[in-house]
Amino acid sequence: MHHAMRRMVTSASVVGVATLAAATVLITGGIAHAASTLKQGAEANGRYFGVSASVNTLNNSAAANLVATQFDMLTPENEMKWDTVESSRGSFNFGPGDQIVAFATAHNMRVRGHNLVWHSQLPGWVSSLPLSQVQSAMESHITAEVTHYKGKIYAWDVVNEPFDDSGNLRTDVFYQAMGAGYIADALRTAHAADPNAKLYLNDYNIEGINAKSDAMYNLIKQLKSQGVPIDGVGFESHFIVGQVPSTLQQNMQRFADLGVDVAITELDDRMPTPPSQQNLNQQATDDANVVKACLAVARCVGITQWDVSDADSWVPGTFSGQGAATMFDSNLQPKPAFTAVLNALSASASVSPSPSPSPSPSPSPSPSPSPSPSPSPSPSPSPSSSPVSGGVKVQYKNNDSAPGDNQIKPGLQVVNTGSSSVDLSTVTVRYWFTRDGGSSTLVYNCDWAVMGCGNIRASFGSVNPATPTADTYLQLSFTGGTLPAGGSTGEIQSRVNKSDWSNFTETNDYSYGTNTTFQDWSKVTVYVNGRLVWGTEPSGTSPSPTPSPSPTPSPSPSPSPSPSPSPSPSPSPSPSSSPSSGCVASMRVDSSWPGGFTATVTVSNTGGVSTSGWQVGWSWPSGDSLVNAWNAVVSVTGTSVRAVNASYNGVIPAGGSTTFGFQANGTPGTPTFTCTTS
Ligand code: G3I
Repeated sequence: MHHAMRRMVTSASVVGVATLAAATVLITGGIAHAASTLKQGAEANGRYFGVSASVNTLNNSAAANLVATQFDMLTPENEMKWDTVESSRGSFNFGPGDQIVAFATAHNMRVRGHNLVWHSQLPGWVSSLPLSQVQSAMESHITAEVTHYKGKIYAWDVVNEPFDDSGNLRTDVFYQAMGAGYIADALRTAHAADPNAKLYLNDYNIEGINAKSDAMYNLIKQLKSQGVPIDGVGFESHFIVGQVPSTLQQNMQRFADLGVDVAITELDDRMPTPPSQQNLNQQATDDANVVKACLAVARCVGITQWDVSDADSWVPGTFSGQGAATMFDSNLQPKPAFTAVLNALSASASVSPSPSPSPSPSPSPSPSPSPSPSPSPSPSPSPSSSPVSGGVKVQYKNNDSAPGDNQIKPGLQVVNTGSSSVDLSTVTVRYWFTRDGGSSTLVYNCDWAVMGCGNIRASFGSVNPATPTADTYLQLSFTGGTLPAGGSTGEIQSRVNKSDWSNFTETNDYSYGTNTTFQDWSKVTVYVNGRLVWGTEPSGTSPSPTPSPSPTPSPSPSPSPSPSPSPSPSPSPSPSSSPSSGCVASMRVDSSWPGGFTATVTVSNTGGVSTSGWQVGWSWPSGDSLVNAWNAVVSVTGTSVRAVNASYNGVIPAGGSTTFGFQANGTPGTPTFTCTTS
């Protein structure tokens, strides 16, 4: 029966593929392309088009073929959820999730990880734990899963569906154990395990402006202001036909304006079954409107349909008598919604071949960035730069044939996995490391077929005036070139002789001779056309680790104006300070739970002149330990804590103030603060 059904679906899918081939024409940059697939249409707009699928569905060859043909992002329907991954404490089963990742890799798709912390599909042992053990169980689960998939996941739904429909945080076991702070703790734990994965909160009924989306909005705003690593918000979008909220675009835009990405993560549009033609037409309108809303929001990165077709959709099992919710019918045939969505993608690409730069530069709530005093300018994500196709990736190309020779030899190439060509106006790569002085020699070789080797600029830099040797990077920039669909650049190999550096420390990267993918590096950041496509600036060195045109006060089209290598960066000159300068610091505990807390420290300039930098010191109770800090570089020696300004908030005008924050294990105590300025 099962096999017969599969055969039927397989033969039907042949018809389906033929139908799909007769698709609309997509105009991109004046060149006409036949856009026959959702992913092609999405990529022409700098977006992805994803789908969720179970291993079971992917075992159906016709469904698998549809997934591979139409989509470029894959979400496991259930395979990465807690009840599958860790059904008993400390015993992990990554097999099903690995199958999803393997399918995605084999078909050039990226993966959205779904999900790490959720009140549902949570094994009983977690809810039965003594509350004092829930935090460590949650952190262990996140760390184990994110570490297992490190480098293979584009974005994680870290906390799924945290709110009830009134906009209150659900009082699940995580909330009971840690209060609202569990969300920040989960995000920080995930970030520590894979700093390069985008971290999302995901929920339903937050698509329009309402009490629940207001609650999510306020939460994101708070997390951003506290420097918690939050990169995006997922709008599930399980709609009822004819009821797509009219405020969808406006709502997504207000989240984007907070400085996070937004995504449609679980799109479907259900109706009574069997479906009427009228409802199928309404579904076409609905789905196209969702796509148009996403395309109108520059930070809407992509759309994912939940389940492959009406045959495997979750809807009929949950809502009796309803279904037909996807763009493909039970025989995997495209429905009117498929054509409408493809047309929406094509129409947008013909009007504007690329996602328009954000019309409203989104100010990061805190801190307000000041121009970097770095000797080498920051990559300056430029609002006017051309966007990057969702299909572009940068991958590590290992050239180090002589490990242990006291040199670092990072190499890289840019690959266009999309189906249309991409204009690479600029590529900037920063390799982060620490050093403590000495000079250095920079050599690079180039086989950069697309960009042209003459366009390479290389320099060293440091973005933090307070610790000029602790956050150093080697920066390589390339300009110009068009990368055809499916093409890859040649490779650029750089070599830094480090023998004359007295204490060069490689921080968890460049493991010689063994790396085959870029994903193995935790301390590399890559910008393509001014957009961060890989990595996160090290903590404390950037106002926002998220790619955003907003934080840079004076956008510069070229990330590195220096045409020649500058081998010995001079530490940042310290603008003059005045003898009358001074500061005070005070702390506010934002949230606390048994065994931990988060706090905000306000640093106030009590002097008569601006500061150019500041340091705050205090002691905390024995046994306290730092988990994470934001908006300052915080170091702990025993019970002594020292916080030094970040690169962007050292300047405090006379009478002004700034803040930094941290999370710690232990108790806050009643510290006395010392504060000094420079
Ligand atoms: O695996 C067992 C199987 O052994 C058992 O025989 C069968 C009997 O009911 O159940 C199977 O588990 C089911 C599981 O899907 C795998 O098929 C669960 O009962 C069923 O509840 C579960 O449903 C999933 C649901 O999340 C759970 O809440 C759906 O497949 C999945 O599509 C759905 O996805 C969610 C997102 O994760 C979050 N947003 C909403 C979305 C739709 O509800």
